[in-house]
Amino acid sequence: MSKPRLEGKVVLITGAAGGIGEEAVRLFAENGAFVVSADIQDELGPHVVASIGSERVSYCHCDVRDENQVEKTVNYTLDKYGSLDILFSNAGVLGPMTGILDLDFQGFDNTMATNVRGVAATIKHAARAMVARKVHGSIICTTSVAASIGGISPHAYTTSKHALLGLVRGACSELG
Ligand SMILES: NC(=O)c1ccc[n+]([C@@H]2O[C@H](COP(=O)([O-])OP(=O)(O)OC[C@H]3O[C@@H](n4cnc5c(N)ncnc54)[C@H](O)[C@@H]3O)[C@@H](O)[C@H]2O)c1
Repeated sequence: MSKPRLEGKVVLITGAAGGIGEEAVRLFAENGAFVVSADIQDELGPHVVASIGSERVSYCHCDVRDENQVEKTVNYTLDKYGSLDILFSNAGVLGPMTGILDLDFQGFDNTMATNVRGVAATIKHAARAMVARKVHGSIICTTSVAASIGGISPHAYTTSKHALLGLVRGACSELG
């Protein structure tokens, strides 16, 4: 039988307690990776990890809106598994469904803080760890079709995913 594709790789996944992130945790673990599942849902996240039942998978609280928590989560990953090969920066929120005439700026700011600044913080700290250790890693960020099309999702979400695409392009040109 061939070796699992990601045998021994260490991956950090944000927004990992549900949806796409949860499935990614399961998929990476099935393929032999060590996985840190990071989220703000501190009941569901550990529950998902327990359901996988492997010491190669662990949960860490991380609100990506808080850079300190992101840095701590990267350090937790390094301490726990000794490296960081893959960042899957996936945490995101859809935000309020209001039209432009009723734009709610508290919701707008939260969407931007999560979907743009939060991802930027994860790229910053994961890339620092990879560069310092000369790891030729992978950084994957979940954008959306809303990164290139308007009018199909809430305004803050569309704005955030367009911005995220710009962030990813800029980071790629520097790190790639
Ligand atoms: N589901 C879709 O159809 C779809 C389509 C395109 C893009 N996306 C993107 O995929 C990603 C995952 O979406 P999903 O559908 O799985 O959503 P989801 O709501 O099922 O999961 C998102 C996860 O992110 C977590 N999260 C939210 N805010 C957070 C924060 N501040 N810090 C850390 N974790 C936080 C939530 O707790 C949740 O576990 C998002 O970036 C979303 O924009 C989803």
